[in-house]
Amino acid sequence: MQQPRRPSSFKMSYLKVAICITILTSIVTFSYVQKKTTSIPQKMFCKGTPATGSITPLEDNKTFIIAAYADKRQNGRSIVRLIGIVHYRDVQHLYCWFCCPSRKKIRISEAEIDVHSDRFDFPYGTTDLCCSEPEDCAPNYVSVHWSRHGKIDQMPQFEIKNRDTESLLMEFTVCISTMFGRFNNVLQLVQSIEMYKILGAKKVVIYKNSCSQLVEKVLEFYVTEGTVEVIPWPIQSYLSVSPYWHHKRAGKDIGYYGQITALNDCLYRNMYKSKYVLLNDIDEIILPVKYPDWGTMMRDLQRENPHSAVFLFENHIFPNSVFMPNDLFNTSSWNAVPGINILQHVLREPWRYTVFNLQKMIVDPRRVIQTSVHTVLKSYGSSFYVGSDVALIYHCRAPHRPNLPRESLIEDKTLWRYNKSLIGNVNRVLQHTVL
Ligand SMILES: *[C@@H]1O[C@H](CO)[C@@H](O)[C@H](O)[C@H]1NC(C)=O
Ligand SMILES: *[C@@H]1O[C@H](CO)[C@@H](O)[C@H](O)[C@H]1NC(C)=O
Ligand SMILES: *[C@@H]1O[C@H](CO)[C@@H](O)[C@H](O)[C@H]1NC(C)=O
Repeated sequence: MQQPRRPSSFKMSYLKVAICITILTSIVTFSYVQKKTTSIPQKMFCKGTPATGSITPLEDNKTFIIAAYADKRQNGRSIVRLIGIVHYRDVQHLYCWFCCPSRKKIRISEAEIDVHSDRFDFPYGTTDLCCSEPEDCAPNYVSVHWSRHGKIDQMPQFEIKNRDTESLLMEFTVCISTMFGRFNNVLQLVQSIEMYKILGAKKVVIYKNSCSQLVEKVLEFYVTEGTVEVIPWPIQSYLSVSPYWHHKRAGKDIGYYGQITALNDCLYRNMYKSKYVLLNDIDEIILPVKYPDWGTMMRDLQRENPHSAVFLFENHIFPNSVFMPNDLFNTSSWNAVPGINILQHVLREPWRYTVFNLQKMIVDPRRVIQTSVHTVLKSYGSSFYVGSDVALIYHCRAPHRPNLPRESLIEDKTLWRYNKSLIGNVNRVLQHTVL
């Protein structure tokens, strides 16, 4: 607290008065601090530091906490669920330390460590840490520690989110997990985000590991616009990350830059903000065929399948190596922008029924407990497979089957229905950012 400034005309002869003033000031200052104490007792009682990063290592270096969420969905029982990453074998016991300022007590309960079943042989996996909440207080913060003994003042504290379960604000949020590898596909990024907006997204959440300066500029534009929320994701500062989904490809601690952890955090982060959450990659667009947008599609799908919480969409590959002529649309100014112009890629590989197909999802987050990339692992509702006559995933990337001749690819111009608004919107963004 700043001391009040002395008047400049202060003189030695007023020393006694000055001493009085100093004493008075101290009393005033002291009582002010007292008053502050009662209004924010949290700070004075448990002096731990609130965690600031999006990945917080605990002192064992084998447990990483992303965030803490209140969860009352299980028969109304109050638990706090922390989304984290643990070494699946080395971490056996963890304890939640709840700070109860109203009672001036710390409550400790053992966490149920529920490592997600989709770990793909990596030693580190996404985990839920579930702790019963103390009944006699509604804490705002929780810490996690390997023992029932310790000093809470030295532990990072996590704010318990999702206390407010009433205020649903938007209909669709897209969760994009882990942008990595100095991502520089500006043109596809902007087109994907603009397509999401056209189809009904109000928010796109991106877990950003690394990207180019140009992409940084585009993301800043969208953050200012209010469309994009960027969650920093510096996971390689803590673990060795594999660019592959399975351990056998290249070893390392955790797969695909911790993609599954990011998706679960995104699910909980938006549970009470968004009616539906889409879990897909930036090169994928869940594209309605029978409907103009996600809103009209989901109204029908949900009405026909009221018990479904998860809607699965077929993944169709539109090879970025096979082009349509570039002169159909007036997009020559985009040639200066790095990345793929999706309007040029409307031929898709034939669907292979015999292969394990990697579908993506639209979920009702309030009815999902744990998610993986292509399916949910635990939920309060069933999964419904949406036919490709209703919608499919437009997935523009390197071909799965590069040797297929062009004639065997299927022309699918669904995306072109949106050409006018898409081109207009993309031009606006590019002109404000990279052009
Ligand atoms: C955890 O990692 C930090 C930084 O790498 C290191 O200084 C510390 O000794 C490690 N702690 C344990 C318990 O291994
Ligand atoms: C093509 O687009 C540019 C802006 O990108 C515009 O100035 C020009 O008039 C357009 N040309 C046609 C034929 O629509
Ligand atoms: C572009 O979209 C308009 C509607 O906005 C449509 O009439 C037109 O056929 C589309 N162009 C192509 C080549 O599909």
